[in-house]
Parts: sequence; structure tokens; C-alpha cells
Amino acid sequence: MIAQRPPMGFNTWNCFCGDINENQIKEIADAMVSSGLLDLGYEYLVLDDHWMAPERDSEGRMYADPQKFPSGIESLIDYVHSKGLKFGLYSCAGMLTCGSRPGSFQHEFIDAQTFAKWGVDFLKYDNCQKPNGIEDHLLYRRMAMALRNCGREILFSACSWGEYGTHDWARNSGTNMWRSTGDIQDNWVSMRDIAMSQFAYSTHNAPFSYNDLDMLIVGLYGKTHIGLQGCTDEEYQTHFALWSLMTSPLMISCDIRNMNEVTKTILTNKELIDINQDIEGRQGYAWKISKDAEYYGIAKALSNGDYAFGLFNFTDNDCTITNSLNIKFWDIGLPLGCGYGFEMRDVINHKDVGLMKEFVTVNLKAHACAVFRGKLVKYE
Ligand code: GLA
Repeated sequence: MIAQRPPMGFNTWNCFCGDINENQIKEIADAMVSSGLLDLGYEYLVLDDHWMAPERDSEGRMYADPQKFPSGIESLIDYVHSKGLKFGLYSCAGMLTCGSRPGSFQHEFIDAQTFAKWGVDFLKYDNCQKPNGIEDHLLYRRMAMALRNCGREILFSACSWGEYGTHDWARNSGTNMWRSTGDIQDNWVSMRDIAMSQFAYSTHNAPFSYNDLDMLIVGLYGKTHIGLQGCTDEEYQTHFALWSLMTSPLMISCDIRNMNEVTKTILTNKELIDINQDIEGRQGYAWKISKDAEYYGIAKALSNGDYAFGLFNFTDNDCTITNSLNIKFWDIGLPLGCGYGFEMRDVINHKDVGLMKEFVTVNLKAHACAVFRGKLVKYE
């Protein structure tokens, strides 16, 4: 069974754009193992656009660009599998991909069979260059049907950008994850706006089909084609906390061969990953915790009865003592004076912070967050 939990892995697009090749992908595979990412659950290594040759072969099949992959795709897939990883490819619901390579329209079944024969485990399916006259969701239903009958378990990652009511058809059309927004850019506003745009959809996430908030931008630092601004480390930490509490797939997109220590620390936070990967797959629900400022709380119910709580300062100002952020447990279902409280653990700084009876309060810098895991206990 695939995608019981939010899928985790690495995707080439944000870091490399179309500049991919077989030695580099092998190095990425090696780094996913040696850095400990695979052990934490980052298991899919996904090639995005531009992996395929510009034309199909004489039998109408896609094949890998021989300039980039001179040994052929199957030997690369064997290598990736030999490391204990799973392998993903990209195609598109239209006639061409967004990068003008062959798309899968009218080739859905032959492509699914080809991918299965090669040993592909994951397909990202994009939304460009579609024909007129066919409703979008039908193009995704076609590929879902083809993949579900190709003889191999292939995770279906729909990249439909939230268009045409993606939230309403993606899950029941057989996708395993579905992009609910346009492309993330490597800056604070893009990341924050994607998260906030999905607060209203917290009931759509569940095992086998997850709301994909797009790839993680942690560690890009404004050096790639998706944004020259970049984020601060604090903003990248907030980003990872949001994706974890909102139960998004976690697809790394920085060059993991040269991660700095902060990037590695953020991406390998096991306590946050455990919250993201909780088997019930519930998305945290969000609410505004101050009338006067863009301060938000997110609470996620976990399968063992614990709750994860996030507090977020989305404003451009540090918060002061007088307007500190405050989650009242009343708002998540704890009656006042009931004799229960939460034994809290700070899962970003990895320390226990003790019993909180009615609320938890923090002071946060601009764009910062705090995340706790709380265990309900009776204290009187
Ligand atoms: C679209 C997708 C991106 C990426 C590119 C590739 O923009 O949303 O994630 O796959 O296409 O061309």
C-alpha cells in the first residue's frame, strides 16, 4: 500500500531545473543515504521535467535523453533501487510538458506500462499544454486508471496547481497526492501564502491521498531559478513546521550533496517528521489567535491522543510581551477547570517544557514559530 503517510523524498526541479544527468542523480542517491535522509523516511528520488528525449521513439515510447543519461534510464533506476530508495519520473497531462518535452496525452496507457517495465515507483503528472475540449479532471482520471492497472505500484502525484477544483476531484480520482497551488517561490511571502491558502481545506487530507503544498524550499537561499530572494533560516524553519503540521508531502528540493548544518537540522527534525507522518493523516486546523495581528495557531490531532500545537507570527514585527502569542486549550476542546492539562514538549528545540493547564504562550520574532507536542494529563 503506497501513500498511507504523506510521501517524502527529493525532487530535482527547484535546484537543477532541466540541468540533470546520470552522475549527478547517482550522487544525490548516495547523499540521500549517507546524510541519513532515507532512514528518516525520505525515500523517493524524483526526476522532474527534461529527463526525456525531445521525441518519442519509433514505437511511440518515451525514452531518456541520451545526452543526459547515456547509460539509459533502467540502469539508473537499478542504481537508485540498489541504495534502498524508490525512483520517480515526471510527465504531463498535456501533449507536451511545461518544458516542451513529450507529454502523455493520448499515450497514458503505453506510458504507464513503460514506466512499470522500467521499475518506476512514482509519477509526477503536470498540467501544461492540454488539449481543448476535455475537462481537466478526466486527464488525471485517465492516468490514474492507467497507473492503477500497469502491474506495478506507482504513486500518482497530480500536479494540477489547485485548478479546476482540484480539491474536489483529486482524491476520489485515484491520485496519491495533489498540488493545490501554483509553484512555490523561494521567498517568505510565496511560502506563507501557500500555507494560508490551504487553511480552508483542512478536511481534505487523509491516508492514500494528500494535499501537496509543493516542494520544500529549505536550503535554497535564493540561489536557484525559483527565486533570488531566498529565506532566512528562521523562515525555512517556519516553512518546515507548517508543512509538517499541515500534513503535506515532504519533498526536498535543495542540493542535498552540499547542505549546510542548519538546512540539515531543519530537514532531519524527527519530532516534526513524526507529527507529519502520523498514521491517521489528519491535517492540523488553523485559526487566528489574535484579533489585532496575523498570529495563527495550528493544532493537529495525533493517533495516540497527543496534540501538536504550532504558533505562528506571520507579521513583519517581533511580538512584544504585551501582545505575545497565546493558544487557549479551550479553542481545541479542553473545558476550563476540568483538571486536565498538557505536558508539553518543544519539538523544535527538543526539550520538555512542563505542564500547561489552560494555555501556552510564547514570544516570537517576525516570521518565527514555536511547535509543541502535548500529552493530555490529569493533574488533580
Ligand atoms: C510546473 C510544475 C513544477 C515543475 C515544472 C517543470 O511549473 O508545477 O513543479 O514540475 O512545471 O516544467
